[in-house]
Amino acid sequence: MKTRIAVLVSGGGTNLQALIDARDRGELPHGMLALVVSNNEGAYALERAKKAGIPAAVCLRAKGTPRSDFEARLLDILSQNNIDMIVLAGFMAILSADFVGHYPERIINIHPSLIPSFCGEGFYGLRVHRAALDYGVKVTGATVHFVNEIPDGGRIIAQKAVDILPDDTPETLQRRVMEQAEWILLPRAAEEVARELEMRNEE
Ligand code: GAR
Repeated sequence: MKTRIAVLVSGGGTNLQALIDARDRGELPHGMLALVVSNNEGAYALERAKKAGIPAAVCLRAKGTPRSDFEARLLDILSQNNIDMIVLAGFMAILSADFVGHYPERIINIHPSLIPSFCGEGFYGLRVHRAALDYGVKVTGATVHFVNEIPDGGRIIAQKAVDILPDDTPETLQRRVMEQAEWILLPRAAEEVARELEMRNEE
């Protein structure tokens, strides 16, 4: 049985699109994109899910409400959909150790830098690229890693380097890192982990 994957998103969903495109090319043979969950009801990623025929759900955390309530609802949605594996694809919320404990080595995340540079709490989206440019590094990239209780601290699965060009802005750098690293690495890593889990399930 294929590994049932939930993709968690918050925004534009280009990494979700890369997963959908890989699926459509037959490059995700051991995984099924079974569900998309967004913590933002306006996320364009939800449109992408709809167009690709993937069931989607919205799970919101209202300001000032406990994370545990949000995570309990999220866990419910995931278990109702028999999810085996979670891909964080531009999901802008940190998951607690308790949540992660429900899916040990079954959650992967794409981060837009070469971990351990420019990562951890507060480093997300364009902020990561701004920090790389401010520091003056000449090479950055993307990392896919397992998610554990430390933000961006889990075991690394794959990394790819991307050159920084003299005239880069956070926006141009973000785009190049996506094109040259994220959209390639994430589908490959998802397939690798889905395959492992499928094999383990059949043992
Ligand atoms: C991507 O660059 C992803 O690596 C990053 O947010 C962007 C989401 O874009 N994730 C993080 O910064 C997580 N710490 P997308 O919605 O178009 O995939």
